[in-house]
Amino acid sequence: MGKRYVERFNTAERVLHWFVAASFFTLLLSGLGLYSRLFHGYFDLFGGGAGAILAHKYAGVIFFFSSLLLFFNHAKEMFTFDEDDRKWFKALGGYLSKTPNHINSGKFNAGQKLFGVFMGIATLLLGITGVINWVPESFPRGLVQFSLLLHGLLFVWFVMLMVVHVYLTTIGNPGTLEGMLYGNVRRIWARTHHPKWYKEIGGE
Ligand code: HEM
Repeated sequence: MGKRYVERFNTAERVLHWFVAASFFTLLLSGLGLYSRLFHGYFDLFGGGAGAILAHKYAGVIFFFSSLLLFFNHAKEMFTFDEDDRKWFKALGGYLSKTPNHINSGKFNAGQKLFGVFMGIATLLLGITGVINWVPESFPRGLVQFSLLLHGLLFVWFVMLMVVHVYLTTIGNPGTLEGMLYGNVRRIWARTHHPKWYKEIGGE
C-alpha cells in the first residue's frame, strides 16, 4: 500500500460484497420474467423459464446468506447513530446545497448506515417471502398471495435503492469504487468523505 492510500476493505469483505452484487443481478435478470411477459426475453439467458426459476432459487440462497453476512459484518458501524449522523440528516447529506459541505462522518455516513440497515431487513423479508413462494402448497393461500405481493414490492424498493447506491459509489463520488475493487482509498478521499474514520485509523 502506497503512502497515498489507506485500507478501506480487506479481501474477504470485498469478495463478500461482490458475491452479494453478482447474486443480486442474477436474481434481477432471472426474476424479471417471472413478473411480466415484457421480460420473458431474459429467460433466454437461463435456457428458458424453468432454467430461470432454477437460477433464481440458487442465486436467492447465495444472496440471502451473503447479504446477511455483509450486514452482520458492518452491524457495529451501522447501528451507532451519533450527533454527526443527526447533522448529516439535517443537511440531507449536503446533496441539495451548491457548496460542498462534508459532514464529519465515521467509516460510513448516515445515509450509508440507513442503506445498510434497510438491506439487512429487506434481505430477511425477501428470503422469508421467497421460501413461501418456493413451496406455496405448504402455506395457506392468503399468506402466499401476501408473500408474492411483498416480494414484488421489496424488489421494486431494492432496484430503486440500487440505482442510488451504484450512482453514489461510482460517478457520484469518484474514488469510492477503488476501495471496493482494490481495498485501498486515497488519503484525500478518506479525509474528505469520512474525516472521523480517517482520524480513527491514524490520519492527521
Ligand atoms: C454494480 C453494483 C455495485 C457497485 C458498483 C457497488 C459499489 C460499492 C462500493 C464502492 C462500496 C463501498 C462504499 C464506501 O467505501 O463507502 C459499497 C458498499 C456497500 N454495498 Fe455495494 N455496490 C454494488 C452492488 C451492491 C449490491 C447489489 C448490494 C446489496 C444488495 C450492495 C450493498 C452494499 C453495502 C451494504 C455496502 C456497505 C456500505 C454502504 O452502506 O454503503 N452493493 N458498494
